[in-house]
Amino acid sequence: MKKTGFLLFALTCLACVQAAAQQTSVKDIDRKVNELLAKMTLEEKIGQLQQRAGDISTGTAVAKDDLMSQIRSGQVGSVLSNTSFENKIIMQRAAVKETRLGIPLVFGFDVIHGYKTIFPIPLAQAASWDMGMIEQIERIAATEAAADGQDWAFAPMVDVSRDPRWGRVMEGAGEDPYLGSKVAAARVKGFQGSDLSSPTAVAACVKHYAGYGFTEGGRDYNTVDMSDQRLREMVLPPFEAAAKAGSATFMNAFNTLNGVPASMNKYLVSDILRGEWGWSGMVVSDWNSFGETIVHGAAADETDAAAKCLNAGSDMDMAGSTFQKGLKNALDKGRVTKAQIDEAVRRVLRFKFQLGLFDNPFVRLDPKRRAETLEKPEYRQFSREAAAKSMVLLKNEGGILPLTEKSPFKRILIIGPYANSHTNKDYMSFWTLGLGMRYYDSTKVVTPAMALKPQLEALGFSVSVQEICLDATCTEKDLSVAIQAAREADLVIACVGEEGLNCGESRCVSDLNLRDNQEQILRVTSRNNKPTVMVLFNSRPMTFQWANDNVPAILVAWQPGFEAGNALSDVLTGKVNPGGKLPVTFPRSTGQIPLYYNHLKTGRPQEIFGTMWTSGYLDLPSTPAYPFGFGLSYTKFAYSDIRLSKSQISLTETLEVSVDVTNTGGLAGDEVVQLYINDVAADIARPVQELKGFEKVNLAAGATKTVTFKLTAADLSYWNQNSKRKADPGKFTVFVGGNARDVKSAGFELK
Ligand code: BGC
Repeated sequence: MKKTGFLLFALTCLACVQAAAQQTSVKDIDRKVNELLAKMTLEEKIGQLQQRAGDISTGTAVAKDDLMSQIRSGQVGSVLSNTSFENKIIMQRAAVKETRLGIPLVFGFDVIHGYKTIFPIPLAQAASWDMGMIEQIERIAATEAAADGQDWAFAPMVDVSRDPRWGRVMEGAGEDPYLGSKVAAARVKGFQGSDLSSPTAVAACVKHYAGYGFTEGGRDYNTVDMSDQRLREMVLPPFEAAAKAGSATFMNAFNTLNGVPASMNKYLVSDILRGEWGWSGMVVSDWNSFGETIVHGAAADETDAAAKCLNAGSDMDMAGSTFQKGLKNALDKGRVTKAQIDEAVRRVLRFKFQLGLFDNPFVRLDPKRRAETLEKPEYRQFSREAAAKSMVLLKNEGGILPLTEKSPFKRILIIGPYANSHTNKDYMSFWTLGLGMRYYDSTKVVTPAMALKPQLEALGFSVSVQEICLDATCTEKDLSVAIQAAREADLVIACVGEEGLNCGESRCVSDLNLRDNQEQILRVTSRNNKPTVMVLFNSRPMTFQWANDNVPAILVAWQPGFEAGNALSDVLTGKVNPGGKLPVTFPRSTGQIPLYYNHLKTGRPQEIFGTMWTSGYLDLPSTPAYPFGFGLSYTKFAYSDIRLSKSQISLTETLEVSVDVTNTGGLAGDEVVQLYINDVAADIARPVQELKGFEKVNLAAGATKTVTFKLTAADLSYWNQNSKRKADPGKFTVFVGGNARDVKSAGFELK
């Protein structure tokens, strides 16, 4: 046997052995689960389906029963949102030593953008279009969370959303299902690693299944009503990608979908998730979402709600008491069977086995590991790099950025409510629960002023900081300080945006404009032709039309996390050349919402603003302020025309789409090369563009790279009127560019 042949043979055998071992362990776990199940009383089974709230609350008030006595009496299978390491040890000891069967608890927690080391918000991470980086962020977050006793992250949130009024857009990957799918898979892999039982792994929980991002009016918890076609194409792909990436659990959504609350939606949970996708994990409700089926008016009482949720395929009751109060009754009345309850309990027990909790209930409760793991300097360093990679440069007129020794400006003023804030979880979000709810240690955050002042001074600038208007309520008159300070500066860096605490669940807005007097700050500092750099700290697309028209440089910094100031300084001084691209469309005005790139054509598309009898507004173009995929660099990229390997392909052939991308500027930089398609004439109307591929390239000044994408019939297919995913033969257009608007195009045909 030749050397390579032998190597292949050896590797194949190794793979066989691994697969066989995995098979054995699955069988082994199932056997142990069944043995345990046979010993359990109905009350103990229902106890395993119960998740109780720990010391912090992220939802409506729930009964605060004595948690310890419930644990001791076997009424609790899981505890969520518990911040105290010592208390988790006490609870686990009680579950293992003081209950009849000694079944360990599983601890769940919202690990949204880091645990103790805080990273940029998920929407910002998506703006990096860097899947390796995103996976690594979750690896670090998992390592810290696991070291602090958490077994299970309630993340990733993979809800596609087209409505930035919704406070939770910050938790997802934006408006596109293709990018969302890639991010979802990366995040699941990052959390879970290669072995769920490892002390550095936490289970992922994909949420919120499904449709939550399409909540009407952008109001949290509101109604969702959509066609099956939209559900299949816009909402479900990231969920399917996360299921395929091996996510151990899923979480129901709060909303109704076409009238049926997601927690009792059999179509979603049993038919699609468990049926079509063959996924075998455990489904947990959202915070009392079983109980809320009664408030929706879709269940009469706890018995009815428990029966409907279990029948749909949901398993565990988070923070409510619907199963506790209603499941036994539902069984007695014949609304559910013992076999169904057993199946849900089996999923919970299997999950605990997979997490290694039966082998060692304290696998993630080791004080030594905790002391050695949390907040390592290298985690912070990675957070700084991630934040810089996530920032998106929207404008840079006259190349005023980066600020270097060669810049013509000498005196710089840093101003605005987010220049140097140490309150309200600024530069982060409400979802940094690992730091505590409100009283977090604000000294951990490097603010813009803290980093920019010394770092700009080291480059020879003279820098002053004006912390005016921290409460963002001052008037034009109060701004006299700003006027004076701006007079004495050559360039102003205005830090504006949103409070960290206003970002996340239940933090929806009806107006996307910069709030309070923030535009005033920009107007004042721009007077006398003082160039202003607007830095936006935001958790969602915002609108700032005056700034678009009048401020020469705009940088979207998002909520960047602990290393906000250092990352900002890296970008503003050119240490890092910005390469982030918007994962969401930025509208001109709130009135344009929903505004997204992958829309259908109307029968009367508006090409030119103001044309009557076309689909537009009298007072505003229907185009966005900044399109999906947009982001500038300190260098420039040029795209060649598209080359296609064929002009026609059959259903089984692959089309290669190539472009040459050249860095035509004087600096090395990153570019995200994006590929979109349009089905010119299908059986139904199709989106004007759909993202089907992207590649992030780093090019030295003057360098050229050929980027080649592959397209198959699967990429051209869609959910058709017969509820089948199929591609229609006919003409297609393919687009390649650095954002959805500025693209090259070419046509081909599917035979
Ligand atoms: C949220 C979930 C979260 C849960 C636990 C709910 O209100 O919708 O995303 O995981 O609370 O904190």
